[in-house]
Amino acid sequence: MRTPVIAGNWKLFNTVAESLALVRDLKALVADAQGVEIVVAPVFTAIHAVAGELKGSTIAVSSQDVYWEESGAFTGEVAPCLLKEAGCAYAIIGHSERRQYFGETDETVNRKVKAALKAGLIPIMCVGELLEERESGKTMQVVAKQIKGGLADLPADDIAKIIIAYEPVWAIGTGKTATPAQAEEVHKSIRSLIAALAGTQVAVGMRILYGGSVKADNVDELMGQEDIDGALVGGASLKADSFARIVKFNK
Ligand code: PGA
Repeated sequence: MRTPVIAGNWKLFNTVAESLALVRDLKALVADAQGVEIVVAPVFTAIHAVAGELKGSTIAVSSQDVYWEESGAFTGEVAPCLLKEAGCAYAIIGHSERRQYFGETDETVNRKVKAALKAGLIPIMCVGELLEERESGKTMQVVAKQIKGGLADLPADDIAKIIIAYEPVWAIGTGKTATPAQAEEVHKSIRSLIAALAGTQVAVGMRILYGGSVKADNVDELMGQEDIDGALVGGASLKADSFARIVKFNK
């Protein structure tokens, strides 16, 4: 009943020309994929061109970040309404790289989630613990704080529109994937937390994606878990064939 979402986070990779070549290949490879939402997140400068190339296809476009103001003297920022205009339907918010290198906090995540929703973008809100937090048994405490902070003051019907991506920081770009059981344990706890915050109905409908070294050869096992509703894919989304295989996971 939850439509799976497979999203490719291209990070700071691909020129406009490379982005277009990638989505042209991808379009052909996933044209027959059904029952899955497919999303790609190019760099800002490629969003408009990629969205144009994907018009009429089953692949949607996301930004990798967003700002919370609609306009004003905010040099260097990009507003949600502008991303929407450029062709985005989704916005990745609070990725661990933003938290780690660019000062993203639960409070800024919360402002961005609200602004994205207001503009009609679907937030893909990222959460996840550091290795030392996992090793000291604090995973759920950390993740719960990020989720409560990111969703602060949002009514249940707004929370219902959001996608959460659980990405253990130690698994991102490291080749170390959480085991399906480790991921499932956190996903299940996240769903319970959403039930407490927004009610069972919202929790049951919420898509919770796993991210962190998802590849063609581990996606099936991850997607076989009850509470894993998709994947946020970095490295393996940069090649059309590996990303297409992930899109066509076997459950
Ligand atoms: P990875 O990145 O798949 O390369 O580990 C995931 C992410 O950062 O979203």
